[in-house]
Amino acid sequence: MEANQPESVIGGKSFTAVAVNCAAKAGEWIKSKLGNITQLDTKYSMHDLVTEVDKGAERMIRNLIGTHFPTHSFLGEEGVEPGPEASARALKEKSEAEYLWIVDPVDGTTNYVHGFPFYSVSIALAHRGQVIVGVVYDPSRDELFVAERGKGAYVHGRKMKASPENALNQSLLATGFPADQHVALPANLKSIQALAPQVRNLRVAGSAALHLAYVAAGRLSGFWEYNLSSWDIAAGSLLVEEAGGRMSDIGGEPYHLGVRNVVASNGLVHDALVAELKAASGT
Ligand code: IPD
Ligand code: CA
Ligand code: CA
Repeated sequence: MEANQPESVIGGKSFTAVAVNCAAKAGEWIKSKLGNITQLDTKYSMHDLVTEVDKGAERMIRNLIGTHFPTHSFLGEEGVEPGPEASARALKEKSEAEYLWIVDPVDGTTNYVHGFPFYSVSIALAHRGQVIVGVVYDPSRDELFVAERGKGAYVHGRKMKASPENALNQSLLATGFPADQHVALPANLKSIQALAPQVRNLRVAGSAALHLAYVAAGRLSGFWEYNLSSWDIAAGSLLVEEAGGRMSDIGGEPYHLGVRNVVASNGLVHDALVAELKAASGT
């Protein structure tokens, strides 16, 4: 780690070790509750689900992090009012935090509710607004994706490398359907219409964090989505960057925690993907 980077260990406890421990513990518990949900509610729209498992997993992660790092700030999806404005505001309110943990306890709740095995726990730690640790855990496959800034990204202890495709016509891309039906959904439908004929294929598997982990692992060439929140992207963004990929907003500007319209790729197809998305959405 470079001299100007923050210490990653306080009192002997590594940030990454705590993030991994939280993700593994929460993931195991989430999986154990699969098929036994007693409380299913909608939040911002009929597409935005929450269960007692989302809330319980966030509580578990928050308590664990608080035990190890009581002075750190915490931003978790279930502690914020539903909707894009509230989530952008919540991030802004914490923007001065020295250390900020950004957590989505269950990314892919719709999949979880339906027993479709593609959901994840997403935990990031940002230091003065820059993500320094990113962990995404897939309990269904017991796959743990871990990145530390400057130290690479790993899955099953193996270093990850973004994929080698260098043209859209060789690419496997993923996207997600946003909870907002009025602006983001129509924009994305136009993007899909523009890109589908140009790529090998598209996937919409239902966990943004896991899609980003798959870009890092070289299993997807790229991913985009409109109107995501910081907790959907933060951990995955570091996985992608540390695997040699690229993160930006939909206009091609570098990723930061406030970006909601996101593009991730292996780097090689990034400019082409951004150009198509810009043309399709008319921005
Ligand atoms: C959702 C998932 C999904 C994406 C939605 C997100 P949640 O998160 O990441 O893939 O398409 O936009 O809201 O609600 O399951 O945590
Ligand atoms: Ca999410
Ligand atoms: Ca969630």
